[in-house]
Amino acid sequence: MTDSIAIEARALDKWFGEGAARTQALQGVSMQARFGEMVLIVGPSGSGKTTLLSVISGILRPDGGSVSVDGVDLWAQPDDRLAEFRLNRIGFVFQDYHLFPRLTTAENVAIPLILKRRPWDDALAEAQRYLAVVGLENRAALPPVKLSGGEQQRVAIARAIVSQPDILVLDEPTASLDGDTGRTIIEFVKHQVLNERRCIITVTHDARIFEYADRILHMEDGKLKDIVPGGAR
Ligand SMILES: Nc1ncnc2c1ncn2[C@@H]1O[C@H](COP(=O)(O)OP(=O)(O)O)[C@@H](O)[C@H]1O
Ligand SMILES: [Mg+2]
Repeated sequence: MTDSIAIEARALDKWFGEGAARTQALQGVSMQARFGEMVLIVGPSGSGKTTLLSVISGILRPDGGSVSVDGVDLWAQPDDRLAEFRLNRIGFVFQDYHLFPRLTTAENVAIPLILKRRPWDDALAEAQRYLAVVGLENRAALPPVKLSGGEQQRVAIARAIVSQPDILVLDEPTASLDGDTGRTIIEFVKHQVLNERRCIITVTHDARIFEYADRILHMEDGKLKDIVPGGAR
């Protein structure tokens, strides 16, 4: 299945706000991402990168255009199917982590497994394994507020990969990590955590991870500008 299209976006439009504040965050954006590849999306702040990730991940409904996943029209699905898609197919790392402050680190990572009805002890044990993988095994019992920004980002990554999604979407995953940690995380996400078929789509400003990309898409003012090859390391 490697090389088949994982996600195909066609002519996506998205508007925000009312009246004078009305802005078009996506202006006819079309893109594809294949299984087996890692695609980066780069561009200035406010260019629509987070909006695009949200629309292709089944989180934010577009005003125009369509998204196909494995050839299925995502936004034509009923809400329960969309929820199922988000739970079973997608791992999403939000720019600001979205960790639950009242849960421990391990419980945060276990959430997708709990939603998939895995028994509690089993889910927590699996969460521990993924925390070890991101180097945080000794933080399992702490609440997120006790962790640094970089550590919280790694918890969010562990939570996104714990159920082995075949599409992994990351919004600026290395923004609060130092150079070496950022590269280690990307290296690890790309080559170790998921099987070869997975598709990874990453928004980043971080030139240090360009070398890991198969393709780099440039966004500006809600439009996709160029598509250039990455280093594919
Ligand atoms: N929920 C929202 N409500 C109103 N405007 C928004 C919302 N989300 C994004 N926008 C606007 O849409 C544009 C694109 O935002 P975003 O996708 O977050 O860009 P990026 O991730 O590239 O920084 C910006 O002008 C932003 O202000
Ligand atoms: Mg953003």
